[in-house]
Amino acid sequence: MRQDPLAYLATELDSLRQQGLYRTLRVLDDRQQATAHFDGRSVVNLSSNNYLGLTTHPKLIAAALEATKAFGVGSGSVRTIAGTMAIHMELERRLAAFKKTEAVVVFQSGFAANAGTVSAILNKDDVIISDELNHASIIDGCRLSRAAIKVFPHKDVDAARRIVRDLPAGQRKLLITDGVFSMDGDLGAVPDLCTLAEEYGCIMMVDDAHASGVFGENGRGTIDHFHVHGRVDIQVGTLSKAVGALGGYVAGSRAFVEFLYHRARPFLFSTSHPPAVAASCLAAVDVLEQEPEIIDRLWENTRFFKGGLVKLGFNTGLSESPITPVIAGEGSRAMKLSDRLFQEGVFAQGLAFPTVARDKARVRTIVTATHTRQELQFALDTFAKVGRELGLI
Ligand SMILES: Cc1ncc(COP(=O)(O)O)c(C=O)c1O
Repeated sequence: MRQDPLAYLATELDSLRQQGLYRTLRVLDDRQQATAHFDGRSVVNLSSNNYLGLTTHPKLIAAALEATKAFGVGSGSVRTIAGTMAIHMELERRLAAFKKTEAVVVFQSGFAANAGTVSAILNKDDVIISDELNHASIIDGCRLSRAAIKVFPHKDVDAARRIVRDLPAGQRKLLITDGVFSMDGDLGAVPDLCTLAEEYGCIMMVDDAHASGVFGENGRGTIDHFHVHGRVDIQVGTLSKAVGALGGYVAGSRAFVEFLYHRARPFLFSTSHPPAVAASCLAAVDVLEQEPEIIDRLWENTRFFKGGLVKLGFNTGLSESPITPVIAGEGSRAMKLSDRLFQEGVFAQGLAFPTVARDKARVRTIVTATHTRQELQFALDTFAKVGRELGLI
């Protein structure tokens, strides 16, 4: 009989089980909301990226339904063959105006936007200077480009400068950071990195996945928050988190975007968004422009919840955003914290190596604009109870 050549994967899974790191997928039974049913249980949901509650906003739902009726459920092709619909072009124009850049190209996801962009614009003769905590999609894009990758310690601009200073003047260099770091919720060293990029002629790129819809005027992101318009060559945003739907986009000059139309592999080789997705993203931009009070509510909730966790004595790291980690140390301890919270009615996903460093496993909390004070107070009371039980506070 043929032996299973994939048998080693079951051994790997057993090892995860023994370390207390094996996870089953939590299944959402209804809508992605502040209180939702996961695995048949009603829980206060602190695990989504649905910062503004737009996944269920009536204007987005109406736009998606209307576009589906008018244009069907799929685009039927990749963008470069027959899959560029008028609504895709409208979304790109709208996002470019929103981001105050010449042009935007939309990808199927934020992951595809990062990986597709970095791998398209560089080659093996080039160098990438990258923050050590940058997102996996940036890391994969860097690897795919075959450029040399130089990693600087988190937010250490002096270390980045030492790397850049020693590189040949004529070599093409990309300096890249997340705008908001997804596991710690702190902000990238964007203004100082812009200065460094200008000093040495580097291409400056910021991944604003978790800043889109959250930071800056009407949620324009960290470039707006830090007032560095015109100093960042490449801005990546996501349509999958605060915007509530799905997708990623890259904003920059017209020539840069047209180059990506010709060379970014996810753009060339993967089917474009269904019209419903493009339509709901267009409606989301309307909401960001017309209902900025939703963003104010997100920040009020963030201050209340983050302040509550700190008062209780939890280690919340260096967060400056609605992402607040509760650091537990060992992976199994973080998973235990997450499991006990869930049993008590609060969903905060545990994250361990390789997503975060081995000794910095955590549960990650993300509040949204739609959480009520009662929901957040219940979550704080539950964190207090379980945190004491596990000796974290
Ligand atoms: C910093 C960062 N960049 C990019 C992405 C990818 O975005 P998307 O979920 O739209 O693929 C994520 C999502 O986890 C992220 O956290």
